Amino acid sequence: MRTALIAGNWKMNGSLALVERFAQAFVETRMPAGVEVALMVPSPYLDAARQAFGGTLVATGAQTLHSESGGAFTGEVSGSMLAEFGARYVLVGHSERRTLFHEDDAAVLARVKAALAVDLVPILCVGESLTEREANRTEAIVLGQVAAVFDVLEPSERERMLIAYEPVWAIGTGKTASPEQAQAVHAAIRARLKEYDAALAAGTRLLYGGSMKAANAAELLAQPDIDGGLVGGASLQIDDFLAICQSAG
Ligand code: G3H
Repeated sequence: MRTALIAGNWKMNGSLALVERFAQAFVETRMPAGVEVALMVPSPYLDAARQAFGGTLVATGAQTLHSESGGAFTGEVSGSMLAEFGARYVLVGHSERRTLFHEDDAAVLARVKAALAVDLVPILCVGESLTEREANRTEAIVLGQVAAVFDVLEPSERERMLIAYEPVWAIGTGKTASPEQAQAVHAAIRARLKEYDAALAAGTRLLYGGSMKAANAAELLAQPDIDGGLVGGASLQIDDFLAICQSAG
């Protein structure tokens, strides 16, 4: 049985005040049994989030990390620093990182390894562009991104991974993949994982991301291979995010 995870990704948004407001909302709101919630806040807010969410079941996470454990990398943050400030999860390979910061599959793999080395749980983000979808290359692209990491990991490392399928054309656009479109790709990812190990395929949590909101979450989360959501814009609105969390129960 896979525990649902609703992960909010604040991207470069939010404030200390928003951390406090979310923490208060989670103190006051009972989450459905069997639903895990995590918030990927900007790194400067991790410590505040750890303290504010301490009395709730909300985990915190980071949005990226550097592949090295330390050194002359001005402006970068290592996995151990994130872990020291309470992060449990870290996003790796988000499409904004792949596109805006030119992180290719090798860079993504190096970051996954760095996260695993300090016991952070990597959420590997994969997804196709609109051009790739229209060229019927969705599975090739997505499964290629999965294989670029999973082929290299040890079996014990694969078991510690989550995967988020985020069609690039659905991120921040208001265009959500239909439940059928999302389910088809999730099923293909799970089938690919089965090539490594059946138990790995059965146990790995696969999240959907891309304009998930209160109005469409229940239908997406009802799909058999969708185990949660990676929520961007709607994770900044307390009521919307709580509603999405409720619909995962
Ligand atoms: O990490 C979250 C995704 O990029 C989805 O963002 O919900 O604003 O489309 P969005």
